[in-house]
Amino acid sequence: MENMVVVGTQWGDEGKGKVVDLLTAGADMVVRYQGGNNAGHTLVVGGKKFIFHLIPSGILYEDKTCLIGNGLVVDPEVLLGEIARLKDAGVNVGPQRLVLSEKAHLIMPYHKAIDAAREAAKGKVKIGTTGRGIGPCYEDKAARIGIRAIDLTEPGVLEEKIRANLKEKNFYLEKFLGAEPLDANAIVNKYMEFANQLSPYLGDVSLILYEAASSGKSILFEGAQGTHLDVDHGTYPFVTSSNPVAGTICSGAGIGPNILRHIIGVVKAYTTRVGAGPFVTELEDETGDYIQERGAEFGSTTGRRRRCGWLDLVVVKDSARINGLTALAITKLDVLTGLDKLKICVEYELDGERIQARPASLSAMARCKPIYKELDGWKEDISGARKLSELPSEAKTYLKEIEEITGVPISLVSVGPAREETIVIDELLLP
Ligand code: GDP
Ligand code: IMO
Ligand code: MG
Repeated sequence: MENMVVVGTQWGDEGKGKVVDLLTAGADMVVRYQGGNNAGHTLVVGGKKFIFHLIPSGILYEDKTCLIGNGLVVDPEVLLGEIARLKDAGVNVGPQRLVLSEKAHLIMPYHKAIDAAREAAKGKVKIGTTGRGIGPCYEDKAARIGIRAIDLTEPGVLEEKIRANLKEKNFYLEKFLGAEPLDANAIVNKYMEFANQLSPYLGDVSLILYEAASSGKSILFEGAQGTHLDVDHGTYPFVTSSNPVAGTICSGAGIGPNILRHIIGVVKAYTTRVGAGPFVTELEDETGDYIQERGAEFGSTTGRRRRCGWLDLVVVKDSARINGLTALAITKLDVLTGLDKLKICVEYELDGERIQARPASLSAMARCKPIYKELDGWKEDISGARKLSELPSEAKTYLKEIEEITGVPISLVSVGPAREETIVIDELLLP
């Protein structure tokens, strides 16, 4: 398999985990390059459900190497918990096949405390973050006061950094946010213990990837979140603090763009979003409830009910452009079964004019009205389909419209959560 990228084209939770798990069959390595444990990637394999927050979704294949790139913010407690749970489930996750970049930044207790206190202080205008300390950790990275995984190997440096940072953070927590200050000794002791457990997993991810690519191994890059949660290209400020877009792979994993070959955008057959922010095709009616229930649209990380709406192709077209998508993977098509009519948003109307791309201004976005193309629905159960020809004609038309409007070919269609509930159109994707 040639090197591949899997990115979310909407607001996250498109089904990236399932697609990555499936494509891992043809890869030697799976790499995450941004985000943190705000991600929740679900796989259903052999009737068992696994949710990964940090470890790449390829980990269930025993012979594949999984890498956590420098672009991530890593909560050591969450990573160790994930390793322990996998070991309990009988999966081999030793340092020989799981590597954490020495340059990744660590989420500290004060990042989580600041995230929670800020959201509480904002009341109604909060972003609706996952509360995992993601934003505050990326802030420290940019401010050049972050604690990196490599610091776990130098206890003196680690302690000094924790104590220096906590002085400032406690002042901010107490005096500005009205929250409880944190105890430096407790944090130092806790992170010294994490250091013992995580040190064997540290490595130079960039070098490992370079050597793998040079010897003809195939690499799969796993995006987290989605293009419209991107801190530059998303619905700012209702976004995450990293860049989920494919271009970030170079900086977030330490590779050159010349090794990226196929860029696959995962598109849920409708739209969802968790947390606050503009959502032009949102359905606050019984159709929205129908999709939410059939799709079991609750967040894999926070358990929050996801907001649901019609498929917004203005959003997907933006993603096709920004990521340079070469193929689409459509997921959760089965969820739409049973609806009489389906709508696809093809353009927005803004102040009486038709527009084809999402505006940068939030207030303009709030004034955008969806222009829909209406299509017929289907009633047949499609979860057993394994070939396009086994889908009802209405479902085929729905897919064809997506291809025509976005201009990107569909390589894969998912019709259920399990690995096998998939129609693979482009055999290049699998070994
Ligand atoms: P991710 O964050 O992009 O990996 O997506 P999540 O795992 O957060 O959310 C996707 C959810 O949909 C998970 O519960 C998956 O098991 C489930 N899922 C994935 N593909 C399909 C599909 O084709 N049909 C149905 N019904 N569920 C799916
Ligand atoms: P996966 O990888 C969906 C959303 C949060 C919130 C905003 C900022 O599973 O697709 P943050 O905690 O990142 O500062 O929250 O981003 N968000 C996600 N929504 N899927 C995700 O990841 C998300 N990660 C963050 O709900 O609106
Ligand atoms: Mg998710």
